[in-house]
Amino acid sequence: MIVRSPILNVMMNAARKAGRGMVRDFGEVEKLQVSMKGTSDFVSSADLKAEKTLRQDLSKARPAFGFLLEEGGEVVGDDKSHRWIIDPIDGTTNFIHGIPHFAVSIGLERDGEIIAGVIYEPISDSMFHAEKGAGAFLNEWRLRVSARRDLNEAVLATGIPHRGRPGQKTFIKELTAAMEQTAGIRRFGSAALDMAYVAAGRCEGFWESGLKPWDIAAGVVLVKEAGGYVSDFTGRSTMLDSGDVVAANDKIHPKLLSMLREARG
Ligand code: IPD
Ligand code: CA
Repeated sequence: MIVRSPILNVMMNAARKAGRGMVRDFGEVEKLQVSMKGTSDFVSSADLKAEKTLRQDLSKARPAFGFLLEEGGEVVGDDKSHRWIIDPIDGTTNFIHGIPHFAVSIGLERDGEIIAGVIYEPISDSMFHAEKGAGAFLNEWRLRVSARRDLNEAVLATGIPHRGRPGQKTFIKELTAAMEQTAGIRRFGSAALDMAYVAAGRCEGFWESGLKPWDIAAGVVLVKEAGGYVSDFTGRSTMLDSGDVVAANDKIHPKLLSMLREARG
């Protein structure tokens, strides 16, 4: 049996509770009141409800910690070292379209470093979790990134910049290179789960630009604790600020960086 820290238990319980509401709302997705936010970025009432639940539960357990929330923005806490970085539903477009692939993502940041992360996929009840120095897990199973070494056997996940998003021309160049060099490319629609899949060895790598800290935070610690690497496109650790992410197993990461660098020119 794995022994989890109290804080990770708090995160997992909060994610499960938010997930239960989400499953109910997903069942009624047709009836949900959906409003437009930005160009093609939807926010549902389920999003707001989940964020409220998460905020309440996490504040109760650690009243002084701050928050960075997808919907609510920055909430400065008395404890300036600790901050929860939360995406209540990563994969909102899937959710709204009735596609059962979305997740609650909670990262815990301490002095600028992500030290714990939970990505919970409520439909399949899959709890991906990791804590710095304690390993990455899917439910009770220890995770390890895949052992595939070459791009020609690698399956990569990515995000496609859609209507209103910048970087479409650059993405086409990256995609062309990936089409020529890899075994397959997936666009699942949740960056958090894409990173969880890299940690679980389901995909060898993942890349995307223009992401927000809440899309990435929990995934960073998951991939690292599963033995993988996460960086920006230049190999540095600016992901949370730049929104550029390249996550992969240890063998594929340098190859993916070179492929992307060459493709971008
Ligand atoms: C989105 C998902 C998607 C990614 C987008 C994100 P949201 O988050 O993570 O996979 O490609 O860039 O904005 O809007 O579903 O929370
Ligand atoms: Ca998101």
